[in-house]
Amino acid sequence: MKHLLVTGGAGFIGANFVYYWLNKYPEDHIVVLDALTYAGNRTNLLEAEKNPKFEFVHGNILDQPLVETLLKKHNINTIVHFAAESHVDRSIHGPDEFINTNIVGTHTLLKASKKIWLDQGRTDHRFHHISTDEVYGTLGPNDLPFTEKTAYAPNSPYAASKAASDHLVRAYHETYGLNTTISNCSNNYGPFQFPEKLIPLVIINILFNKPLPIYGDGKQIRDWLYVDDHNRGVDLIIKKGTPGQTYNIGGSNEWANIDIVNLICELIFEKLSGDPGLAERFPDSPASKNINPKVLIEHVKDRAGHDRRYAIDAGQLIKKLDYSPAESFETGIRKTLNWFFENEMWWNRLLDDSYKCWIEKNYIG
Ligand code: NAD
Ligand code: TYD
Repeated sequence: MKHLLVTGGAGFIGANFVYYWLNKYPEDHIVVLDALTYAGNRTNLLEAEKNPKFEFVHGNILDQPLVETLLKKHNINTIVHFAAESHVDRSIHGPDEFINTNIVGTHTLLKASKKIWLDQGRTDHRFHHISTDEVYGTLGPNDLPFTEKTAYAPNSPYAASKAASDHLVRAYHETYGLNTTISNCSNNYGPFQFPEKLIPLVIINILFNKPLPIYGDGKQIRDWLYVDDHNRGVDLIIKKGTPGQTYNIGGSNEWANIDIVNLICELIFEKLSGDPGLAERFPDSPASKNINPKVLIEHVKDRAGHDRRYAIDAGQLIKKLDYSPAESFETGIRKTLNWFFENEMWWNRLLDDSYKCWIEKNYIG
C-alpha cells in the first residue's frame, strides 16, 4: 500500500492527480502539501476532502521541519512533487519566487527525504519529480522531438529553475542513492487549469468578449497532452519505472498557438450559436450573437525569449512501460470545454482577484 505525499496538489495537475489516484487505488493514503499560492485552490480538492484516506496540509515545501514531520507522521513512502511556480510569463517579470520554490523548495524536499528515509535505512521509498519539456529549450521546424538524452538548454527563468531542480534530483540519486524518478512532460490542458495559461484564458476571454492575445505571429508550436494522460504516465513511472531514470511524457500532438486559438473559437461558436440557454448565460460573447469569436484575436508583443517549438518523443515510456494516451486532442479539448461550461463558479471567482488584475495589466490597460 502506498502512502503518498503530493506537493502542489491544490494546483492544476496535482488536483487532477489526486482524483486519478484515489479513484484508481482506493486503498492508498494521500496527504497533499500545498502553500495555496495564487495558483492553488483548496476547492479543487473539495471532493477529495470527503474521502477519509485523504488529508490536506496548508504549508510550504520550503519548511523542512514540516516536511519531515509529515513524512514520519503519515509513514509516507512515495513523494509526488508537483509544487512549483509554473507560469513562464510570471517568471520573466519576477524570477525570485521560481528560484525559491522550484530550486530551493525541491532541495528542501530532497534533504527531508534523505534524512527520514535514507538515513534511517528505509529503502522502500520513491521520490517522483514532475518536470517539463521546457528544460530542453527550443526546436527548429525540422528537428527531431526531445528525447531523454537531449541536452538541457532552458531559455526562460521558469525552465532554468525546473532544469536546476531536475539536476538536484538526479544528484540525490547518484550521490546518496535516493530512489528518484523524473518525468518531463509537454504542455497540459484540462479541468482546473488556472486561466493565465493559453487554453483556459482563451476560453474565458471568448465568453467575456475580451481580446485573445496571440504572442508574436502565433506560429510557436506546443505539444499538448490531456492532464489525465500526463498522470497516467506518472502512475506507470511510480509503479514500474527504474530509480534514477528520467521519462518523457507526451502524446505527439503538435499545434501552433494560432491554430489552437482558432479551433477553440470554432468550438465555442458551434456551442453557443446552437444553444440559446448557453448564449443567454454569456450574452457578451460574440458567439452568442452569431459572430465567430476569431474577431477577438489580437497579435501582441512577443514573449521575451519565446521558445519556438516543443515536441516530445515519449518512445521510452511507450516501449518500456507500455504507455499510451487515452484522449485524442479532439476528445480532450471537448471534455475541457465542457468542464469550463459546467464549472463557471470555479473560474468566475478567479475573475474577481488575480486573474482580472493580470489580464487588465498585461493585455488591456
Ligand atoms: P500550478 O501553478 O497550477 O500549481 C502549482 C501548485 O503548487 C499550486 O497549488 C501552488 O499553490 C503550489 N505551490 C507553489 N509554490 C509552493 C510552495 N512553495 N510550497 C507548496 N506548494 C506550492 O502548476 P501545474 O500546471 O499544476 O504544474 C504542476 C507541475 O507540473 C509543476 O512542477 C510544473 O512545472 C509541471 N508541469 C506543468 C505543465 C503544464 O502544462 N502545466 C507541463 C509539464 C510540467
Ligand atoms: P502557456 O500556456 O503560458 O504555456 P507555456 O509557456 O508553458 O508553453 O503558453 C502556451 C503558448 O501560448 C506559448 O507559446 C505562449 C502562447 N501564449 C499566447 O500566445 N498568448 C497568451 O495569452 C498566453 C498565455 C500564451
